Parts: sequence; C-alpha cells; structure tokens
Amino acid sequence: MCGIVGVIGRANASECLIDGLRRLEYRGYDSAGIATLVDGAIGRRRAPGKIVNLVERLRIEPLGGTVGIGHTRWATHGVPNEANAHPHASSKVAVVHNGIIENFQQLRAELEAKGHTFSSDTDTEVVVHLVTDYLDQGLPAEGAAFEAIRRLEGAFALAIMMAPNPDMLVGARKGPPLAVGYGDGEMYLGSDALALAPMTNRIAYLEDGDWVVITRNGATIRNQTGEVVHRKIVQSSVSGALAGKGEYRHFMLKEIFEQPQVLGDTLRTHYNPAEQSISLAQMPFDLRAIDRVTTVACGTAYYAGLVAKYWIEMLAKVPVDADVGSEFRYREPPLSPNGLGLFVSQSGETADTLVPLRYCKSKGQKILSVVNVPESTIARESDAVLPTQAGPEIGVASTKAFTTQLMALACLAINFGKVRGTIDAAAEARLSSALLSVPSRVADVLHLDAHIKHIAEELAEARDVLYLGRGSSYPIALEGALKLKEISYIHAEGYAAGEMKHGPIALIDENVPVVVIAPSDFLFDKSLSNLEQVIARGGRVILISDEQGVKRAGRLASHSICLPTVDPFVVPIIASIPVQLLAYHTAVLRGTDVDQPRNLAKSVTVE
Ligand code: G6P
Repeated sequence: MCGIVGVIGRANASECLIDGLRRLEYRGYDSAGIATLVDGAIGRRRAPGKIVNLVERLRIEPLGGTVGIGHTRWATHGVPNEANAHPHASSKVAVVHNGIIENFQQLRAELEAKGHTFSSDTDTEVVVHLVTDYLDQGLPAEGAAFEAIRRLEGAFALAIMMAPNPDMLVGARKGPPLAVGYGDGEMYLGSDALALAPMTNRIAYLEDGDWVVITRNGATIRNQTGEVVHRKIVQSSVSGALAGKGEYRHFMLKEIFEQPQVLGDTLRTHYNPAEQSISLAQMPFDLRAIDRVTTVACGTAYYAGLVAKYWIEMLAKVPVDADVGSEFRYREPPLSPNGLGLFVSQSGETADTLVPLRYCKSKGQKILSVVNVPESTIARESDAVLPTQAGPEIGVASTKAFTTQLMALACLAINFGKVRGTIDAAAEARLSSALLSVPSRVADVLHLDAHIKHIAEELAEARDVLYLGRGSSYPIALEGALKLKEISYIHAEGYAAGEMKHGPIALIDENVPVVVIAPSDFLFDKSLSNLEQVIARGGRVILISDEQGVKRAGRLASHSICLPTVDPFVVPIIASIPVQLLAYHTAVLRGTDVDQPRNLAKSVTVE
C-alpha cells in the first residue's frame, strides 16, 4: 500500500530515494518523505500530496548523506498531512512503515507513560519510540530493533535507521513485501524490485517474519526466532526505465490503447501456433483431477475471476466459487479435497488475496495464480502461475491488466475443458480461433474512441449511472461501474440485468443513464426485455452490443456502441474496452486526476 525504500551506500542517498519513490508512487500518494543521516544526525524532509511536492521541498532544502529511508504513503491512521507523513523520527531513530500495527494504542499508552512524546496520529510512530526506548536502555542497535519488532502485532514492512549506528539499516517483514537489493558497495531495501530497478537487479525477497540488517557490504537475514537464514538472490527482470505516457494525455489512455499488443503477447504465452492449440505451462498437478475451483481476488481482478466462473463452468463443467478475498478469508469455507484455488492479481501483493491463498494451501488445495508481476509474493507462493503480459500498468484504474487476466483465464478454461474431455477438438479450434481474433477486434473497438467520447458527455452530467449485463457480460457491467466510480467519482452500480426489476429499477428516471451490455447471444431477448423495462420508466439506455443487437434494439437505445461481431465466448474481453473508454472520457470531462484518483492505491497490502 505504502511504498518503502532504503539505501546505504556511497552516493547521495536523497537522489536514490526519490528515484525509488517515484517508482513506488502507485502504492499511494497521500504524502511522501525521506530521512537521511547527516553528520550522525537524522535529517528529514516530508510533504503532503504527491512526490513532486517532496522534490520541490528538497530543491529548496536539500538533504545530504549516504544512508537514508523514504516513503510514499496511503493513509490508514491519521489524515494525510505533513505531521503524519513518514519517516517518523526521534533524535535517534527514523522509521518508514507499510501496513498496520494493530496493537499501537496499547504500545503508545505504555510509551507515553514512560515519558515519550508523540507528534503524529499514526500507528507507525510507536515503532520509533519503542526502538528509541530499547536504545536508551543500552541495547545495541540491532538488538533494539529486534526487540521492538518482536512486540509488534499486525502487518508491517519496516525500514529502520538509527543515528547511533550509521553503518546499517534494519528491515522487517510480516505481511507486506520487502525486498533486499544487492549493489556494489551499496545495499538497498525496497517494497519491490521495481523500486530498486535503477540501482540493482540482484534481489532477495524477505519471507514472512524475516528481518534483515544491511550494511554497505551485504545483508544478514534472520527469521522471527533470530536464526540466520538464507534467501535466494534472484536476477530481477524488472526494467529500470520509467514508463512514459508517449503521445497520450494519461497513462490510463495509453494503457487502454496498448491492449491489442498485450492481449496478443498474453495469448502467445499460452498458445502453441505449431499445434494451433492452447498449451499451458507444465502444471505440477493434474487438472483432470480437479473437481471444484475457488477463485479469489479483489477489485477489478475479482471481476476477472467472476468471468472465469462462467467460462470454466461452461467449458470444463466444474463448479466454480468466486469470491472477494476480504470475505473469503474470515469465512474459512470448507473446500473440496481435490479443489483448485485460483488467485487473480495484477500486483501479486494484495493482502486480501494473499491470505486466502495461504488458507487454501493449508487446506491442501492446488494453487494456481494469474498475475502480472512474476516475482510477486502471490506468484512465488503458487504451485503454478499463468502470467499476464500486460507490462507495467501505471494508471491506478486497471485496464490492460484486466483484459490480459481475461485472456489468460480464457486459455485456462479452454485447456481445462480439453483435458477433462468436456469440449471436443472442433470446439477447441473454434474457441482458440476466437481468442486469436481478439487483438484485432479490440483494435477495431478502439476506433470507436471519438464516438464513445461523445457519449461520455452525457455520463459526465449524471449523478448516478446503472450498468446492466447478463451471463459473462454481468461481470463487465460490474467492472464498468467500478471504473466509472474510481476515476470520475460518479456513483455507479453494476447489476445482473435480470435483477434490476428486483430493486434498482426504483432508481430509474430520466436522469439516470443505464449502460446495457447485451451482445446478440442466446440471452439477448432477455436483455432486450430489461431494456424495455428501463425505457418504460423514462430511462435512457446506452447500449453496448454488436451489429445485430443494435439493429434489433432499434430506437430503444438513446446511444449505441456497436462492437464487432465475435464469438460470444470472447465478448467479455471485447466489451471491456468501451466501458473503460466511457469511464476515461467521463473522468476527463469532470476534470479528475485520472491516473491517480483520490483515496486509491494500485497495490493494497493492508486489510
Ligand atoms: C486495488 C486497486 C484495484 C485492483 C485491486 C486488486 O484496490 O485500486 O484497481 O483491482 O487493488 O489489485 P491486484 O493487484 O490484486 O489485481
């Protein structure tokens, strides 16, 4: 959620920290700050808002030093002002933190009773005072940090800098990720390999409960009982180059337009052109033995999981339960002994998805994940991974990550049906060929951009918008509504079209646009009836369909977005594009911060 970076080296720490923070801004942008050691004392610069504000602060008041820690914040405890910005510090200790310290109130009361004065509303500041307290009791720096870490409950990735010992930094992980970067006479800590990419590609990932001491020459990693452990140093493939917007006004628009390319890249990963068939990477378990699938994810990725439910049930005839991670994890559902846990995540770090993964693993489920970041925790903890090839997605609202998840899941569904014998060779050929056509059909839809922009003018005026869909278009209705909410701040609801009459129909009047996703498939007549129900109540319909559907709806729809006619199987991918563009243009018309919408973060590593 928040982003952490730390450096102990030879060069100017501030520059390196800012470089790392820029790459971590996707984790939150409520405030940013750095602290370094200058002549044995802690120097600190912090600023509310985005990293540019911190950079401006540093331009006026530069900060020297070769050791430092930095942070970009997504607020959990305490409003996003300068006082609550990390690093938090005493005269001896500075700390940056990602996560939530659940016992902070109790620790704070204890430390305040001992005379410690707090200057923020955050949970993090207790770590500063705890470490300071142990240093004051005479513990050496490493021991003080270890004792403090042992007292913390909740979830944390921490970087701790101590003035009495300027030749080391301490990092710790329980929950949110933390990576150690190995340089030449320099060492680093970072929330992920991306943060450290310009400095090094030699990375070791801490495991849960690990803590680490880094010096200029190396790292000593210990587990929670204090034993020295070895964590493999891997060669990260993450590029150090910062992605640019190119000719586009926003990253989101660029990423929407990249979809033909990245969908093709993802399909190529799972398709064997020589055999003209879907060919998934070797799985360390037999898909044929799977009798139930549980798919768990959050946000947009959950909707990808929901589409997979329709696809897998239809093609493999295996029941699929789809759930959001935050509900699944505390329900502790009973699972089939031959079950598959299917986890979908762009970042591969979402806490609400990771914990269910571990639960499923502990219950003997086979674990398969669809992730965009191959080195992420979810990828590393899975039995098998179906990678998406979306590349770095910078816009907080997910677009190309979502459709590439759908592509990977479509390949899984076909393969699943094939190995279980529930689809024959002809069906496999038809479905694969439908997938092969997706990149160019998506490119066709992108040509409708100007028309969709025009329709967005109507949405931009609305206070509420309804999105309706049936079958595998239902999750796309949910995704369309989420996209609109996230970036335009207009209230929107996605509903199964048939459910509208059971409640949301009460909302319909001439001021509530209704976006109906209704391809001309076997459910079209049903959707048409729902559309009539909207019209009968004075509602205005924006229809997303194909040529036949648009023709059949005739003048019922106020506006139509006519998609190319494709196999119904791939409609969810194709129909994702207009809902993304509708949300994008509406947000631009409303003047919101499209790439970094308020209150959101791209990777959420807290509950
Ligand atoms: C956050 C983002 C969403 C994203 C969700 C899941 O809430 O704002 O856009 O869909 O996390 O993220 P993941 O990385 O697991 O796909």
